[in-house]
Amino acid sequence: MLIAQITDFHVGRIIETDSGSIDLFDRLKDTVKHLIELDPKPDMIVVSGDISNHGNIEDYQRTKSLLDTIEIPYLVMPGNHDSRDNLRELFGDRGYLPLSGEFLQYTVEKFPLRLVMLDSLVKGHHHGMICEERLEWLNHTLQEQPDRPTLVFMHHPPADLGLPYQDSINCRNGSQLKEVIRSHPQVLGVACGHTHRDSIANWANTVLFVTPSATFSYGLQMKPIDDINPRFEPACIRLFCWGEDTGLVSHLSFVGKYPDGLTEGVPTPASN
Ligand SMILES: [Fe+2]
Ligand SMILES: [Fe+2]
Repeated sequence: MLIAQITDFHVGRIIETDSGSIDLFDRLKDTVKHLIELDPKPDMIVVSGDISNHGNIEDYQRTKSLLDTIEIPYLVMPGNHDSRDNLRELFGDRGYLPLSGEFLQYTVEKFPLRLVMLDSLVKGHHHGMICEERLEWLNHTLQEQPDRPTLVFMHHPPADLGLPYQDSINCRNGSQLKEVIRSHPQVLGVACGHTHRDSIANWANTVLFVTPSATFSYGLQMKPIDDINPRFEPACIRLFCWGEDTGLVSHLSFVGKYPDGLTEGVPTPASN
């Protein structure tokens, strides 16, 4: 079973560079092409928030048209730049988003690895939060199937990562969430986006995966700063492979071609 996570497209944002303007929708096209060319193909794609930069219908519409060309089922969830109402309007026809209630959280039950999609959006704010209602939903949902290996997705990382700027806008009540996750050992991992960087952490007796953006990065800033500037590093997607024997294994897959000039084959191991 193979799941691809893509995140933080921010469609609608134009980034100015020395060599001109870059439309992030064009960067997303490259990532989508990369996904189409993956072999083996993922069984499912998870889009973990910040799909559009302004949450407007037009940007969701063109993103949906592009994602549909992959011809692999995909799931959406909200990030701090998204509008729940507009996500529901555009992607509600796919049958997995809850059609009532405030939050866009749900489970996917058709694979051996259970997927739990948790909504961390706080309307009007860049930081996230899992309020009492959402915590209760998560606890109840995990209690329902304690023996099934489970992967949780949410937009905001629920732990400090040593990145002061991003940590100031992470999921605010991570300690409460930690208690819930820790009490359900079937959770093999929690996968997030939001920081536009790759981080891995031990958290809540499981593994926290933070996945870089499919379109642009923020620099690695481990000191306190007032603001953060976008930059272009290789866009990437995260793959989650799950098997009975292997458990959960994750890889980053980078978008683009990187000719390195190497002519050697596999290096020979030392004989002594
Ligand atoms: Fe983002
Ligand atoms: Fe975000």
